[in-house]
Amino acid sequence: MDVNIAVVYYSATGTIADIAKEMAETAEKTGAQVRLRRVEESAPAAAIDSTPAWAANVAATAGIPVAATEDLVWADGVLLGSPTRFGNVAAQLKQFLDSLGPVWQQGLLADKIYSGFTSAGTGHGGHESTLLALSHTFHHFGGIIVPPGYTDPAKFADGNPYGTSHFDQGGTAPVDETTRAAARVQAERVVRFARAVKAGTTSVPM
Ligand SMILES: Cc1cc2nc3c(=O)[nH]c(=O)nc-3n(C[C@H](O)[C@H](O)[C@H](O)COP(=O)(O)O)c2cc1C
Repeated sequence: MDVNIAVVYYSATGTIADIAKEMAETAEKTGAQVRLRRVEESAPAAAIDSTPAWAANVAATAGIPVAATEDLVWADGVLLGSPTRFGNVAAQLKQFLDSLGPVWQQGLLADKIYSGFTSAGTGHGGHESTLLALSHTFHHFGGIIVPPGYTDPAKFADGNPYGTSHFDQGGTAPVDETTRAAARVQAERVVRFARAVKAGTTSVPM
């Protein structure tokens, strides 16, 4: 069963971009059609240029297409990633989500698989609150939320059942194998459930 998977993210300094790429590659390896998309940057150039890691990530990811409404409409499964910002979803990703009203109103975001991922600079600064905040939106969409739980030994290493999350230790710890393994588990799980739901909805009369 062919499924469409959208990996949509915001990343300032590259952590979430790394996790998103790992997820997109994993989904591709399962045979899914994958769209890796970054949401539009809305910060002023002066702010970006004042932080070398931010400017470097903007340059490094310039070739990744900007997310469009149609990417979510197209998808059977959606992985959404945001850095933790004051315990919450980054404004740039929220801005994209808030632009989806018209397709939401038509029911075009319902009945898909949704799953979230994040990263934070501290161990207790909001990994779970950010992932749960993302899930508020999934509920409004009528999405089917697929969390990773502790469904694989890799999840006992990264430790977050709500979604992959990386602790970047104040920007000093790049994405490591523990986080990558968790990202792969989550992406495979999203593909698996997207396939199951698509198979069910295309073969069972409603
Ligand atoms: C404005 C701002 C707010 C942040 N808020 C938090 C926070 O509440 N808790 C936390 O642990 N880290 C916080 N961080 C750190 C980022 O979440 C962390 O460095 C993240 O891994 C960055 O991801 P990125 O490299 O994809 O941009 C904040 C960073 C910024 C710039």
